[in-house]
Amino acid sequence: MRVLVTGGAGYIGSHTVVELLTHGHEVIIIDDLSNSKKEVLNRIQTITQKVPTFYQGQVQDEPFLTQIFTTHSIDAVIHFAGYKAVGESVEKPLKYFENNLLSTIVLLRVMEQFNVHKLVFSSSATVYGTPTKMPLTEEDPIGGTTNPYGATKFMNELIIKDYCVAHPEMAATMLRYFNPIGAHVSGLIGEDPQGIPNNLMPFITQVAIGKRPELNVFGNDYPTRDGTGIRDYIHVVDLALGHVASLETMQQNKGYVVFNLGTGKGTSVLELVAAFEQANGVKIPLRIQPRRSGDIAENYADCTKSKHELGWVATRSLIDACRDSWRWQSKNPKGYNQ
Ligand code: WQD
Repeated sequence: MRVLVTGGAGYIGSHTVVELLTHGHEVIIIDDLSNSKKEVLNRIQTITQKVPTFYQGQVQDEPFLTQIFTTHSIDAVIHFAGYKAVGESVEKPLKYFENNLLSTIVLLRVMEQFNVHKLVFSSSATVYGTPTKMPLTEEDPIGGTTNPYGATKFMNELIIKDYCVAHPEMAATMLRYFNPIGAHVSGLIGEDPQGIPNNLMPFITQVAIGKRPELNVFGNDYPTRDGTGIRDYIHVVDLALGHVASLETMQQNKGYVVFNLGTGKGTSVLELVAAFEQANGVKIPLRIQPRRSGDIAENYADCTKSKHELGWVATRSLIDACRDSWRWQSKNPKGYNQ
């Protein structure tokens, strides 16, 4: 298939582009490079020996997007493009609502104009808000989001769901990611946060290369087995393969469907640090800090539905992800700013 990947130069987007190309699909990337670097395109080509078509720009720029659909006969879209920093979203809600929602609305309008009916949307476990039971299934309640970033993921699901009601020819798949970590085994692509990392793994790898003196552990008084936050850490390549499986099973079914993409296992902050130290033979100095506002104690997935309906399961281990994250970071101490 010819697949348009919005945000395809980003962390999850680039890993998904690699797997799409490896599986014989043709890829067109749109990315505004606000949170990614063009160098990733060279790395994708080195890994796959294929060159994805690239357009720099914003999805919500309707003339720009229309021109791309005019030039290329697109079969399906994977929509990653969006701002994703939880903390920044609290400080700048309008920036997040405008960018993350308008991009989806314009994308759907142009898809309708060009009769493109297959959409995979990058959603997030954050739509479950503060859950009351674990593990989380796709039928659990959503919407109690605790920050504007999470609210935009929830609202985008509503927008797409209602669009599908009005357009029965649509096939739209919401993929709710848990916590992506790791990197392609080559070490050529990986997570390259700008500034101080918000997420746990990139902070750990920056401590490991000596860029940061220690890891702040945000709270050790949660009601969990060791007091630190528990999450479902899924290898980014497993996540990417979940997107390929979604596209390839989309051939036969229509309508709006939702899948959790996780491992089904919860791992605490201290357990992830211990796994990283064991996998890579490094020591990560820690400092226990107060809880981070908006954090929840525990969050991990029930992935039964993805296994039965996508034929997909995560196969890479926590140790694999720790090794792969470290290989990426140690080969690219400045990320893509080499
Ligand atoms: C994980 C755990 C922290 C950093 C968010 C979004 C989600 C997804 C991933 C956006 C928590 C603890 C973290 C640190 C720490 N998409 N932690 N020290 O908050 O679960 O999910 O990012 O990118 O939609 O909600 O991920 O990696 O920030 O935190 O102790 O320096 O690690 O308290 O328990 P989170 P995270």
